[in-house]
Amino acid sequence: MRIAIIGSGYVGLVSGACFANFGHEIICVDKNKEKIKRLKNGEIPIYEPGLKTIVKENVASGRLIFMDNIQEAIQGVKAIFIAVGTPESRRGEGYADMKYVFGVAKEIAPLIKDYTVIIDKSTVPVGTADRVNEIISEINPQANFDVVSNPEFLREGSAIEDFERPDRIVVGANSEKSLEIMNEIYSPLNVSRNQIVAVDLRTAEMVKLISNAFLSIKIVFANEVADLAEKIHADGIKALIAMGMDGRIGEKFLHPGPGYGGSCFPKDTKSIEKTGQEAGAHLTLVEAAIKANSGRKAGMVRKIIEAMGEKISGKKIACLGLTFKPNTDDLRESPALVILPSLIEKGAQIRAYDPKGMEESKKIIKDIKYRNSSYEACEGADCLVIMTEWDEFRGLDLKKIKNLMKGNIIVDLRNIYYKKRKNVEDIGFEYIGVGFKE
Ligand code: NAD
Ligand code: UGA
Repeated sequence: MRIAIIGSGYVGLVSGACFANFGHEIICVDKNKEKIKRLKNGEIPIYEPGLKTIVKENVASGRLIFMDNIQEAIQGVKAIFIAVGTPESRRGEGYADMKYVFGVAKEIAPLIKDYTVIIDKSTVPVGTADRVNEIISEINPQANFDVVSNPEFLREGSAIEDFERPDRIVVGANSEKSLEIMNEIYSPLNVSRNQIVAVDLRTAEMVKLISNAFLSIKIVFANEVADLAEKIHADGIKALIAMGMDGRIGEKFLHPGPGYGGSCFPKDTKSIEKTGQEAGAHLTLVEAAIKANSGRKAGMVRKIIEAMGEKISGKKIACLGLTFKPNTDDLRESPALVILPSLIEKGAQIRAYDPKGMEESKKIIKDIKYRNSSYEACEGADCLVIMTEWDEFRGLDLKKIKNLMKGNIIVDLRNIYYKKRKNVEDIGFEYIGVGFKE
């Protein structure tokens, strides 16, 4: 099927490449001309494992092309995916900024000729599909189309795997015709069982937001259990694993750390919180999770200062990891962006290394000395902080690091050395993780 995808960011580009891999003819569009130029030159603007190969293969086969012109891109397509950003409109206010989604609806409205399905893949407040419907009908009353909601559940860092092996595909549709087209689009994934959960538009929009909200609550719960365990001298990590083994609870998303970040959990929790408040049906757990997560970063700063014996002014801290999670170059809402400036403000000198996030971080935090390797970052450091759980940090030569450092403190905000903490201590480190205190 010939399909246009509008917005070629994390979601648009990954979806486009994967749909092309299913055999569809995909036109990925972006208004950012520079991005399209780079994509046409075979450059991938984001770091996402496996994406480069799949894009290259599908461009070579002619099934994936890039354009900056919407008018040209949507000619002869049966389906148009909207995959543009929906950031928070004004920081702290919670409302999703819908100008990009509605902007696309306005742009495509006069261009629709034959029956077309307009599919919203961006994460949006409930009621958005209805509004997109209205916008298109007002501009072009003759337009023959249906709006569908098809939220995306991929995670950065494992986006291809998540897209190609989803737990479910949620489709909100109000007509049989549009549902049939969605079935056809996803048919390569529906071989062994039908993955599609067909619901109405508003329900589909709600599924996306409550899924992110629930996962955020799970993380906040794990973080609070970790804090409690430290105070009462229990092992919070083992307790959470044992708790999660109950099939009703599930062990995923119970890893304590510096708080959830990224481009989605922070904004989507605020978005559904707002919806609840406006509808007079408060989501009190979500409200509490947002509050707890925002305080989490200050808690981590406290933890580092305490580990360093309350003296950080003039001290050197090596920070390994800057991105909000491993296997991405995305720094949006990364805990590092709050924790590091706070340590700097208190007089610490930061030397940081991240395998993929430094280019972006250099634009945001200037008062850091960026180093080319973990070992370089640790030279002369009084304390080492593990901020992101990149695999390459797990296999570091800790004896070498001990010799390079001036001090002997490791604050592991991701518990990557939790299992081998006895070895770490035998090397001569004082090891502080999250959720246990011996
Ligand atoms: P992004 O910022 O990486 O990409 C959005 C792209 O849309 C940008 O390249 C921008 O230039 C382009 N764009 C904006 N307006 C346009 C227009 N009128 N015409 C053409 N292109 C336009 O965003 P993202 O991370 O891919 O997220 C997109 C949506 O998907 C958001 O609603 C987000 O919440 C949701 N989502 C994201 C993820 C994720 O892991 N990043 C996962 C699931 C859902
Ligand atoms: C998240 C969801 O997992 C995806 O299903 C969803 O599609 C996406 O948001 C979205 O809507 O954009 P993502 O933000 O890429 O994906 O990454 P996650 O793996 O969910 O991690 C989010 C944050 O939670 C990270 O900061 C991570 O470190 C933190 N986290 C995650 C924890 O602190 N503990 C955990 O156990 C799991």
